[in-house]
Amino acid sequence: MSDVRHFLELHDVSVDELKHLIQRAHETKQNPHQSQPLKNKVVALAFQKPSMRTRVAFEVAVNQLGGAALYLGKDDIQLGKREPVRDVARVMSRYVDAIVVRMYGHDEVKEMAANSRVPVINGLSDGAHPCQALADILTLQEHFKKLEGLKVTYVGDGNNVLHSLARACVRLGIHLTVSTPQAYKPDGAVWKEVCDLAKTNNTQMVWEEDPQKAVKGTQAIYTDVWISMGQEEEAAQKRDAFAAYQVNAQLLALADSDCRVLHCLPAHRGEEITDEVMESPQSSVYDQAENRLHAQRALLEFLLGGRKS
Ligand code: CP
Ligand code: NVA
Repeated sequence: MSDVRHFLELHDVSVDELKHLIQRAHETKQNPHQSQPLKNKVVALAFQKPSMRTRVAFEVAVNQLGGAALYLGKDDIQLGKREPVRDVARVMSRYVDAIVVRMYGHDEVKEMAANSRVPVINGLSDGAHPCQALADILTLQEHFKKLEGLKVTYVGDGNNVLHSLARACVRLGIHLTVSTPQAYKPDGAVWKEVCDLAKTNNTQMVWEEDPQKAVKGTQAIYTDVWISMGQEEEAAQKRDAFAAYQVNAQLLALADSDCRVLHCLPAHRGEEITDEVMESPQSSVYDQAENRLHAQRALLEFLLGGRKS
């Protein structure tokens, strides 16, 4: 099964492949039905957690490429509960042509992939959200018409979304400043990895506790919910810790005058971001959400369509 290509985290594709995915997502936007590489193919979506964007974008993308999508929610196969993950992977991968999973543990996603005969795509785990990062980069590229040298600041929780974003930024020469409370920094191993890589390619990866300092002159501010799915018990504690990390008009005013605001959605308005900023002309969040579809279509075509860059 070692020759099967999976997409569990950003580094499962090379930098050239990443650029190809972004380019392909952009160029197929106007004509998403132009080829049907998934004709007679079935893609299963096995999700332990709720989803709107990831699920709908994958279902539509599969359809646009001529295939069929099979959604399996948390009560259908009870992924990880009714039988071992490896048995689900072994059996399901004899039925379908690819499996998109949304699971809690990142190690469980790896276990799916290790036991699957077909590509496994990570549609979000506690450790990573690489499909989101593809859309994030596409959105930056489309707005700024370049990636290398851009300055992006992530404000909020050092979570799954940040991990994939950081891995994408460092590979593409985007300078990233991360502003989180001390207790909610990104995972130490992920942060070390991106900082080490940054040293080799002239890219800056900076952690700055003070969000006001972190956003000075930045070209894009990215935020995500403070309480990710599965962290509901920590809600009160996290709300306190993140009180100074809200993306609001005052914070945005410290950034570059054309600073774009990004959010993977769903947003908790009044917590990590205000209504005013969400609705402001500087918000790119709906273009970013739309780009999930285009990026995921490019990914499916790449993994299943026999099209390797
Ligand atoms: N951004 C994102 O993954 O949204 P969903 O949880 O709705 O899929
Ligand atoms: N960090 C969030 C992202 C949701 C798309 C979560 O894991 O719930």
